[in-house]
Amino acid sequence: MSPMSKFIVNGGRPVIGRVSIQGSKNAALPILAATLLCTGKSKICRCSELSDIDASVDILRSLGCQCTVDDKCVEVDSGRVCEYTVSECLMSRMRSSIIYMGALLARCGRAEVSFPGGCELGSRPIDLHLSSLRLMGAEIDESGGYLHCEAPHGLHGAYIDLPVASVGTTENIILAAVTAEGRTVIRNAAREPEIVDLCAYLRQCGAKIDGDGQGVIAIDGVGRLRGTEYSVMPDRIAAVTYLAAAAITGGDVEVYDCRPEHMYPVLSYFEQAGCDLTVTDSSVRLRAYGRPRRFEVISTHVYPGFPTDAQPIMLAVSTVADGTSMFVENIFSCRYKYADRLQKMGAHIRISERVAVVEGVERLHGAKVSATDLRGGAAVLLAALAAEGTTVIDNICHIERGYEHIDDILNSLNADVKRVNDDVEQPNEPC
Ligand code: EPZ
Repeated sequence: MSPMSKFIVNGGRPVIGRVSIQGSKNAALPILAATLLCTGKSKICRCSELSDIDASVDILRSLGCQCTVDDKCVEVDSGRVCEYTVSECLMSRMRSSIIYMGALLARCGRAEVSFPGGCELGSRPIDLHLSSLRLMGAEIDESGGYLHCEAPHGLHGAYIDLPVASVGTTENIILAAVTAEGRTVIRNAAREPEIVDLCAYLRQCGAKIDGDGQGVIAIDGVGRLRGTEYSVMPDRIAAVTYLAAAAITGGDVEVYDCRPEHMYPVLSYFEQAGCDLTVTDSSVRLRAYGRPRRFEVISTHVYPGFPTDAQPIMLAVSTVADGTSMFVENIFSCRYKYADRLQKMGAHIRISERVAVVEGVERLHGAKVSATDLRGGAAVLLAALAAEGTTVIDNICHIERGYEHIDDILNSLNADVKRVNDDVEQPNEPC
């Protein structure tokens, strides 16, 4: 894929139809890293066709795993892992590659990884990853842009009280702890469904884990894990994005093969916007009638609060709402980078540090804009679906890190999105 591929969107058409929800990117990534810990073959199904999944497979191969990818199932044989270094080039392709630190320390007793790629949402420190692994016996030296990690006496259990319920840190600790000596307890662990999915997979491999999803996780290390077949959970943020496409265009969309219980923190806001919802065990249908109503305040929090990943999505909806909405971003310091793209399309948005105030306008108009990051890019695409005229979105590699075949899916839902590949120009920012 060319980094400068574009979407050309002819907006103003209601998004209507049904869409099966892809497997969760953020659940698949740590599960693929966890296959390093298993003897025998692992088969991870419902891995979406995304560049971040490709990057994970490339990392596993570079470490000596044999991987085959067939119809969204990735089979990993980690019997011959012979490397403990993840190259800078591979690390920079995916920010979540930092979880390979815990997995490699557990598997090889050593890990060498570079600092994960750039900064898209504000400062994304890894101090908690490092301090937690140090508590478990890792010696970590930072030099030459690399983190050199070693556990000379093996990893051991520890009591870890996280000051922030960080998703990636919780995953790194779990990966390090499942085969460590003794018991690890994580207090203020992240409770996101993707953590619960990782633990479900690891339990199926023989790990002993309790309390995932509840804030305090206890892990008793076991000698070995065995490979298994596992199907990744559905992607809650992708599901919310397709519902938002209906909400912003006055459409009618049913998302199915999903887990509505993971989406509850967001669903009530669609009702606040005046949309009708029909929810079953595995589907949600959203019917919108004309302009959405305004949101009062949407404030992001760790799960089960309103997810930061859905903030750009709902802010896009609010740009055409009847009234003024307010957003407070509590997780990342810089997650409104996309807002100036929406402004270029006619949105009225004022940002002051973590607060965004959006005065809804009757209509957005098409413009030439660029995707800034994954969810910010999705926000711009949503706005383009609702806008009058044509919007050209470049840097769509950001969007395609997390949304599988989003152009084809939207076109099957009555939208008009053309993908144009451009091999000549270079991207402004790496994807
Ligand atoms: C995960 O990122 C997700 N990524 C993000 O999704 C998501 O936005 C985020 O969790 C929050 O839900 C993946 O799962 C691959 P964190 P992660 O550690 O793990 C601070 C998307 O769009 N912190 O929970 O990197 C940090 O600065 C992506 O799909 C430290 O201070 O997020 C932030 O303020 C983007 N020190 C807060 O914790 C640390 O060592 C939460 O970050 C680590 C984190």
